[in-house]
Amino acid sequence: MRFQLLALLPFVLQAYAVPSAKSARDDPIWDAILAMDLVGNPPNDYSCKSTVHPNPVFLIHALSANPGVDLNLLQDDMKAKGYCTYSYTYGAHTLAPWIGGMTAMRDSVEDLSNAILNVVQKTGADKIDLVGHSEGGVMTLYAPLRNPEVAAVVERTVALGPAVHGAQYFGLTRLFYIDGTVSRTIAQGVLDLLGCEACDDMATGGAVYEDFLAASNSYNGTQGSGIIQAGTKPTIIMSTHDTLVEVSVSMVNETGVRNVLVQDSCPDDPVGHAGLAWDTSVWSLVYNALEENYDGPVECGQGIPA
Ligand SMILES: *[C@@H]1O[C@H](CO)[C@@H](O)[C@H](O)[C@H]1NC(C)=O
Ligand SMILES: *[C@@H]1O[C@H](CO)[C@@H](O)[C@H](O)[C@H]1NC(C)=O
Repeated sequence: MRFQLLALLPFVLQAYAVPSAKSARDDPIWDAILAMDLVGNPPNDYSCKSTVHPNPVFLIHALSANPGVDLNLLQDDMKAKGYCTYSYTYGAHTLAPWIGGMTAMRDSVEDLSNAILNVVQKTGADKIDLVGHSEGGVMTLYAPLRNPEVAAVVERTVALGPAVHGAQYFGLTRLFYIDGTVSRTIAQGVLDLLGCEACDDMATGGAVYEDFLAASNSYNGTQGSGIIQAGTKPTIIMSTHDTLVEVSVSMVNETGVRNVLVQDSCPDDPVGHAGLAWDTSVWSLVYNALEENYDGPVECGQGIPA
């Protein structure tokens, strides 16, 4: 239940961003939202030293989210296991600074890239690993593609359900509707008010879609000629039950890419797109990717089907 509530928060948060949405405040979930750190950026400890993993791990949140509500539990789990983790809210509108991932991605990818390079510089690390969910998963591939300095320092990337090959615009905005009737109208209001350039960017024909397509078209069989940059070790984790960003939209068929289906390890896991962030099956696959222990143990869970 707790997981279920938390899973909805990024999207509900989005819905409650409009100050005029007073009636929505009668909903019990509002208490949970008020209890949250709306700024959403957990402090980054640049003096952290890990004995379990050589690289700092940078977690990248999804559309309409921030590090306080998306991948936050995975980040807590990583910290408890002794990893040095970092995160940052990218792509937020100035009107709603705690809701990231909304602005044009060709801009927000540079903002995010600077945050990644900042961690590398401040920690003195040689290399960094990226883990991202949904739009954040896209960013694990897009930041190295767009920014050569990032490509030079990124070692492992793990993307959960990234929309690489053109999501449906209305598919992405369906995220806002995930808690059903309560926020449906309000969510549309937020979209109308602030817009969602990132939604357009990832949709078929959008800016990011076109950038990936161009990179894909120049792929000649060698890592570094296509979407995937030379020297990186990319993993893409997908669920066959993800109806929002389907497997065919996430998969990258280039040398060195590990395209991993949750159901290959956990056939009974119904996890959907949002649920990828909170599913123990997925977390195990993330750890195995970071440790390059690809046949490592997987703690199968029952992810949220949404
Ligand atoms: C593929 O492209 C890369 C540059 O991105 C080049 O270095 C390499 O020689 C090319 N390989 C083939 C087989 O054409
Ligand atoms: C990737 O390869 C699979 C088959 O292994 C194919 O079904 C899919 O269409 C390919 N995707 C792209 C984007 O080329």
